[in-house]
Amino acid sequence: MNASTTALFGLSNRVALVTGGNRGIGRALAKALGGAGAAIGIFARDEEKNRETVAELRALGIRAEAVRVDLADRAALRPALDAIRRALGPIDILVNNAAFAILKGVLQQSPEEWDAVMAVNLNAAFLLSKYVAEAMVAERRPGKIINVSSIAGNAGTPIFPSYVTAKGGLQALTRCLAIELAPHNIQVNALLPGWFSTDMTDWIRNWPEYGEVLKEMIQRTPRGRFGEPDELAGAAVFLASRASDHMTGAQLIIDGGFTVR
Ligand SMILES: NC(=O)c1ccc[n+]([C@@H]2O[C@H](COP(=O)([O-])OP(=O)(O)OC[C@H]3O[C@@H](n4cnc5c(N)ncnc54)[C@H](OP(=O)(O)O)[C@@H]3O)[C@@H](O)[C@H]2O)c1
Repeated sequence: MNASTTALFGLSNRVALVTGGNRGIGRALAKALGGAGAAIGIFARDEEKNRETVAELRALGIRAEAVRVDLADRAALRPALDAIRRALGPIDILVNNAAFAILKGVLQQSPEEWDAVMAVNLNAAFLLSKYVAEAMVAERRPGKIINVSSIAGNAGTPIFPSYVTAKGGLQALTRCLAIELAPHNIQVNALLPGWFSTDMTDWIRNWPEYGEVLKEMIQRTPRGRFGEPDELAGAAVFLASRASDHMTGAQLIIDGGFTVR
């Protein structure tokens, strides 16, 4: 990279918080942002995976810290943010990435299951965006919020409707925050992956009862395969960097062409 490209995409002296950064897509995004120079904070529940990821990042020369937190626990969010701030400094880049899906249609899903999906996939993103943006505005610091949604947020399915509804909400939140925070030089964009090889998609890749769904999905994807988490790295760096300063409220789709058919 020459100096002007480094100035455009480089993230040195920034702190990025990646929720769900201890595996799958979040881990790939954490490595990408760290590789571009940012210090990395991680929120997730599995302490062993948190430790492994922090060790991997540090071995690459990246400042990193993880906080064990369940994003469904509203009261735990502010203390967890404070812990990252103490360890790494104020957060410049928030990546709302953590999510999970329950494979049940509306007829099978309990109200408690519905609430659990909303709590992690949508409400935690709202609360973390609010708290992080409040600090940025109070301290007059520019910032970036990247909401990891899904192409599913623009569609419908009977397989995991609570997940799809939360993602649709996350995209709406992205647009609203983009407008509200633009005067404060905070850009808010959504990254919409298609199908990627992670624990989250184990069911479609490996469960025999979803064999037909898998076949259809591969046939419909022009690139003919699942994406690998590393294939989102460039998009994350772009959305976190100066290079995307005039982009806000947008949806960046990376899906091997799945949605163009
Ligand atoms: N994989 C795909 O094909 C795909 C497609 C479109 C969009 N996405 C989106 O990409 C993002 C990452 O997905 P992924 O495929 O990487 O999923 P994943 O491999 O299942 O990882 C999920 C991450 O979220 C964390 N997490 C889940 N529940 C949490 C909770 N209650 N509190 C704190 N952390 C929690 C997990 O950590 P712990 O378990 O340790 O807490 C883990 O780090 C999600 O927003 C997902 O919707 C994925």
